[in-house]
Amino acid sequence: MDKKVLVTGGCGYIGSHTVVDLIENGFEVVVADNLSRSNPVVFEGIEAITGRKVENFAGDLAEPAVVSAIFEKHPDIAGIIHFAAYKMVGESVLEPYMYYRNNLNSLLNLLEACKQFGLQNFVFSSSCSVYGNADALPVNENAPIKDAESPYAHTKQIGEQIIEQCNAAYDLNYMLLRYFNPAGAHPSALIGELPIDRPQNLVPYITKTATGELEQLSIFGNDYPTEDGTCIRDYIHVMDIAAAHTAALKTMLTKPSSEWSRVYNLGAGEGKSVLEAVQTFEKINGIKLNYRFAERRAGDVIAIYGDNKKAREELNWELKYSFEDILKSAYDWEVALKEKNQ
Ligand SMILES: NC(=O)c1ccc[n+]([C@@H]2O[C@H](COP(=O)([O-])OP(=O)(O)OC[C@H]3O[C@@H](n4cnc5c(N)ncnc54)[C@H](O)[C@@H]3O)[C@@H](O)[C@H]2O)c1
Repeated sequence: MDKKVLVTGGCGYIGSHTVVDLIENGFEVVVADNLSRSNPVVFEGIEAITGRKVENFAGDLAEPAVVSAIFEKHPDIAGIIHFAAYKMVGESVLEPYMYYRNNLNSLLNLLEACKQFGLQNFVFSSSCSVYGNADALPVNENAPIKDAESPYAHTKQIGEQIIEQCNAAYDLNYMLLRYFNPAGAHPSALIGELPIDRPQNLVPYITKTATGELEQLSIFGNDYPTEDGTCIRDYIHVMDIAAAHTAALKTMLTKPSSEWSRVYNLGAGEGKSVLEAVQTFEKINGIKLNYRFAERRAGDVIAIYGDNKKAREELNWELKYSFEDILKSAYDWEVALKEKNQ
């Protein structure tokens, strides 16, 4: 498919893997990322994998003029995948205004530009955090939206509602993709998760403990009502998430909206406990991790995993990577990163 796609946040973790997958599927990609939460070295990795240099607009999408400049230069954009946002739950609790300003102003500017330039096919990065503590598992797309646990999660809920209202007002074609726990790295180990600060997610914490960059991994809580007492999450390989975005765009571009839905869960569809992740990592990589059990962390949901049936059936998407692939690729990436930085 030789269509042009704008990927906001394309230098970030999920965005960079999606850029690779889009290029490999024939799309022309333009990125908009101000590098506030990423490292431009990622573009070298994208180029090494795809052989393509990607154009990046490095301005702040929360500024209307930055957004207009992109569409003035590229009025032929056929679809937009909007990843650019701040995503750290704890930080959002401390700096709510910063999160509302960045995440919502960027979205509003893009939506306004869609109307102004007559653009369609808007894909929004949402999150399973919109479900809060779900009543039933696996959680499907019809589950009720619960009170947001953090300003970050609230920006995703409000973002979804704003997009729905734009659709009602002027027929904006859109999809909301709710990710569970993206993890792992491109199999080449040329791109992967590159936290700008101390990692917030389990898998990079594990890999950095394994390489010795972090001294010890804390598992928050081992007295939850789960089989081994630790929290349960739905880990999905970042390349499977990337492929779902390509599949979503292809669907929007080729099928009438009556043949697909507005909201899709993107998860692997099964729950794995934190302890299971640690033990599987140790087994497949042949490494002993230095970990300890710590107090429960405020705001952690006990267990969540998603029903991904709708995405598999309607987007013609299938999971290609296993839980073991996630933990192996994440470690390969961490080792490659360490070697590069030495
Ligand atoms: N990684 C996860 O666990 C997860 C889970 C659910 C949802 N999401 C959502 O998916 C999206 C991508 O997540 P990620 O893990 O790749 O995050 P990331 O932080 O790695 O990437 C986000 C990118 O957006 C850019 N950005 C942020 N604000 C910007 C602005 N105002 N203008 C221009 N660029 C800006 C950053 O520089 C960064 O490169 C986010 O919207 C996030 O909320 C992520």
